[in-house]
Amino acid sequence: MKVLVTGGAGFIGTNFVLRTRATRPDWQITVLDALTYAGSRENLSPVADQIEFVRGNVADADLVDRLVADADAVVHFAAESHNDNSLDDPWPFMESNIIGTYRLLEAVRRHHVRLHHISTDEVYGDLELDDPSRFTEQTPVNPSSPYSASKASADLLVRAWIRSFGIEATLSNCSNNYGPYQHVEKFIPRQITGILQGVKPKLYGAGANVRDWIHVDDHNDAVVTILEKGRLGETYLIGADGEMNNRQIVALLLELMGKPADWFDLVPDRPGHDMRYAIDSSKLRAETGWTPKYQDIRAGLTQTIEWYRANEAWWTRDKERTEQAYQRLGR
Ligand code: NAD
Ligand code: DAU
Repeated sequence: MKVLVTGGAGFIGTNFVLRTRATRPDWQITVLDALTYAGSRENLSPVADQIEFVRGNVADADLVDRLVADADAVVHFAAESHNDNSLDDPWPFMESNIIGTYRLLEAVRRHHVRLHHISTDEVYGDLELDDPSRFTEQTPVNPSSPYSASKASADLLVRAWIRSFGIEATLSNCSNNYGPYQHVEKFIPRQITGILQGVKPKLYGAGANVRDWIHVDDHNDAVVTILEKGRLGETYLIGADGEMNNRQIVALLLELMGKPADWFDLVPDRPGHDMRYAIDSSKLRAETGWTPKYQDIRAGLTQTIEWYRANEAWWTRDKERTEQAYQRLGR
């Protein structure tokens, strides 16, 4: 199978490409990535001679048409992905996430190519801390930030192209990922790399916001499972029952990295900050048999800390610029 992976040089896409080279050696992989600040071609150097790499924009209609025409399936990761950046400058989110998805949809429609669209639980808005419910495939979209609104827009386009044009597509909405190769702007790598540099973790607001953490390999295994066993036209929620508040995550990082439990700072909150995400992934589990392999976040975080410790050169180049940007935002 010839698989076009958009955004394959970013965090989740890199892990997807490296993992599927090992688990699906018969797939021929082409990566399309614009190499924004969040993407790095070097991530793919272990498999550079086994894949094709194209630097380009998913919003480039001609390029996308040519690449899709040559593929059997597209896995669409490419997106601007950081909420804080979307609050600072929403436009790249509109272009990459909405127009980029539209270009892909038109290309898969023309060439009858299978699409799997990667999305996020953030499209559903947020839950109260004391609300016993979790997001399901039936939860109405209700996004809060320019980022999540752009992802919800893309999801709605995919659903419309399925219904009106009969394209062969599936969607998945996953919760917060952690693991190797995640950009230092994101919560967990920001704190791990900060601690390694002797800087205290920074918690937004009171640190009470809850995220539903999943290891990136579990997310990517679910994506492969949906490609192989998912029903066309369907949406699947991906989650590993990993709800924790940000204070709990920081406490665990401090413990695992040998720092005192009170060694953190509270900083001004993110505007519009979603309180809680929680995923009910029973549809995916019941229909496909997928289950997460990382049941214990302590083990997953230990592996992630070790990766950042061992790959300092990978993250130091972005760390200073990222922290300067946070300083400007007061966070
Ligand atoms: P990331 O920011 O680490 O990587 C995004 C990649 O897409 C980068 O390599 C970047 O260069 C590329 N890209 C951006 N705009 C592009 C464009 N216009 N054309 C081509 N390439 C472009 O993001 P990530 O965390 O790996 O997220 C990947 C996908 O998964 C996104 O669609 C995101 O919405 C979704 N998602 C992420 C999470 C998470 O916790 N990180 C959870 C659920 C869903
Ligand atoms: O839920 C899936 C989403 O998870 C994905 O769609 C996004 O692409 C991904 O970035 C992530 O969004 P969040 O906004 O939840 O992730 P972030 O890592 O930015 O923040 C996680 C939580 O930690 C959130 O409550 C904000 C908080 N936070 C973040 C940073 C960077 C802090 O308390 N301190 C920080 O320094």
